[in-house]
Amino acid sequence: MNDKERVAHYAAQRVKDGMLVGLGTGSTANYFIEELARRNREEGLRVSVVSSSVVSAMKAQSLNLALVGFDTINRLDVYVDGADEVTADFTLLKGRGFDLVREKILARAADQFWVLIDPSKQVDRIGANYPIPVEVMPFAWQMVKRSLELLGGRGDLRQTTNKDGLVMTSYGSLVLDMVFDAGLDSKALNDRLSNTPGVIEHGIFSQLASAVLCVIDGQVVEQRV
Ligand code: A5P
Repeated sequence: MNDKERVAHYAAQRVKDGMLVGLGTGSTANYFIEELARRNREEGLRVSVVSSSVVSAMKAQSLNLALVGFDTINRLDVYVDGADEVTADFTLLKGRGFDLVREKILARAADQFWVLIDPSKQVDRIGANYPIPVEVMPFAWQMVKRSLELLGGRGDLRQTTNKDGLVMTSYGSLVLDMVFDAGLDSKALNDRLSNTPGVIEHGIFSQLASAVLCVIDGQVVEQRV
């Protein structure tokens, strides 16, 4: 069992009967969905799930988890997802999977948000290893990009892997991947990005995590916020 699988299984064991569970997106979230489905099937755990992305919804459905519509709920018990970076103050960078809006809405609406990582995700500052994904209204991307450049950002629209097209989110928005100077702290950057017209959402998740579960030497260590 690899580290992502181990922490995902640990988290799935903590889900209680009857909970409404938010499903994240990515390889760690996939392991969590599989283990939750196994418990549902073999232990009669009666959970319902809401998904942060179309791909996770499809996976949940294929494993017979009871999927509820995103627009039919106003809260959930727990949201469980991976992250690309986590700082010591539990600020996260997310969005390599680029559907940021639903991820952040679920993180905020959940009573608890469990973040599943391995030590490679722990960083000194947000943006240390990855650019910051910024989801933008398609018609505004050039003006948004210039606004972010005036903040010292550098970057461009995310392209498809074979570079012959642009990545679009499930809802038809574009994604700018932006690198900022190390001197601009994540709190200030979070505020600036959130206040830029044309930005739909961005990958800095500030003050949303309630627990970070990290695999260290094969053991899951839980840090409560
Ligand atoms: C989804 O948009 C992302 O935020 C993922 O949660 C993040 O990239 C972690 O992915 P892995 O679990 O695949 O490492």
